[in-house]
Amino acid sequence: MLDLDGKPIAGAVLDVWQTQSNGLYDSQDKNPNELHMRGKFRSDSEGRYLIRTVQPVNYPIPSDGPVGAMLKATGRHPMRPAHIHFVAMADGYEAVTTHIFDRTDPYLDSDAVFAVKDSLICDFVRHETPTPEAAKLGIAGPVLTASFDFVLQPAGAAAQVDVLDAQRRLAALGARA
Ligand SMILES: [Fe+2]
Repeated sequence: MLDLDGKPIAGAVLDVWQTQSNGLYDSQDKNPNELHMRGKFRSDSEGRYLIRTVQPVNYPIPSDGPVGAMLKATGRHPMRPAHIHFVAMADGYEAVTTHIFDRTDPYLDSDAVFAVKDSLICDFVRHETPTPEAAKLGIAGPVLTASFDFVLQPAGAAAQVDVLDAQRRLAALGARA
């Protein structure tokens, strides 16, 4: 977890959720075990975090209602590329809601909800023997690892950008009048 100058943010919170390996969120599962595939994690004094989860899978968004009709009308499929959701937050910074995507997913270029950005695509690297971090978590078999640096901007910075943008737009209108 980093600030705009690349300095680590300690004590930041990552709120994480994803589907199970069957492509369903816990709220969609008819027989949910309990709330799962969710968790909150905190960065350490060096801004680092470590999360253990399952490999994300691609899945179809619900398409039995108006959304399905719209997808059909526009000739689009309902698939979302494999991803993990995050809200990254820390005192004094703007919280950001985002997700990371698996670079090998076949639906990256046609996400049903148009949410893929190049900067959010990650390499999920396969290791036949556990990495030191995986071993620390008690994982014995092959693992995939992905790294992602969340960068937070100071609280109020977004509002400041909005004001500057509005001033630029007003100035442009004035120039045209
Ligand atoms: Fe999702």
